[in-house]
Amino acid sequence: MLQFKLVLLGDSSVGKSSIVHRFVKDTFDELRESTIGAAFLSQSITIHPNDGNEANPKDVVIKFEIWDTAGQERYKSLAPMYYRNANAALVVYDITQEDSLQKARNWVDELKNKVGDDDLVIYLLGNKVDICQETPVVETSPESNEAGNDEQKVRAISTEEAGQYAQDQGLLFREVSAKTGEGIKEIFQDIGEKLYDL
Ligand code: GTP
Ligand code: MG
Repeated sequence: MLQFKLVLLGDSSVGKSSIVHRFVKDTFDELRESTIGAAFLSQSITIHPNDGNEANPKDVVIKFEIWDTAGQERYKSLAPMYYRNANAALVVYDITQEDSLQKARNWVDELKNKVGDDDLVIYLLGNKVDICQETPVVETSPESNEAGNDEQKVRAISTEEAGQYAQDQGLLFREVSAKTGEGIKEIFQDIGEKLYDL
């Protein structure tokens, strides 16, 4: 069994804890409380590396030790404790919050300066993609408003903008939803395979 240390970074309320809980417990909480300090969870996955030996595929179990950091500004100075010696970093932004991508960029810069990106796998994640998948209401009638969602959040960061940035920086990139689970398993599978190959 291989063991890797993984850290989540990003602005407060982008959904870091929600992503971890979806992955580890397969649950989602609409009213999750903001993380204090950091939280630790672990989870294992199985990957099926293709070593070019199709006739004899072998399974590899990978255990992730996950540090879910607190995004609030007052905890910012704690982050180095959690990203030090990390094998992978999930840098999360909220596709409906314009500022959150800039915060993510700052984390990427800090990781590259302090950890270096030779051995560190950095994954840029645009979370809450479910919000933008609801059919847009073209004509608003009182009826559709009532039936609609509580808040009318819209996408603020395009897939192209974030994807281009990720490509320029050599990051893995995916848009996900902790709420529906879209893309969540895939992130950890991607990281496991990438780290196995390093
Ligand atoms: P800090 O701990 O303060 O750094 O925040 P965080 O990044 O851990 O965010 P958290 O997971 O606590 O989520 C913040 C809020 O966003 C919660 O109310 C979640 O229910 C909500 N949320 C998280 N992920 C999603 C998602 O994929 N879709 C939607 N619609 N809401 C989400
Ligand atoms: Mg949290």
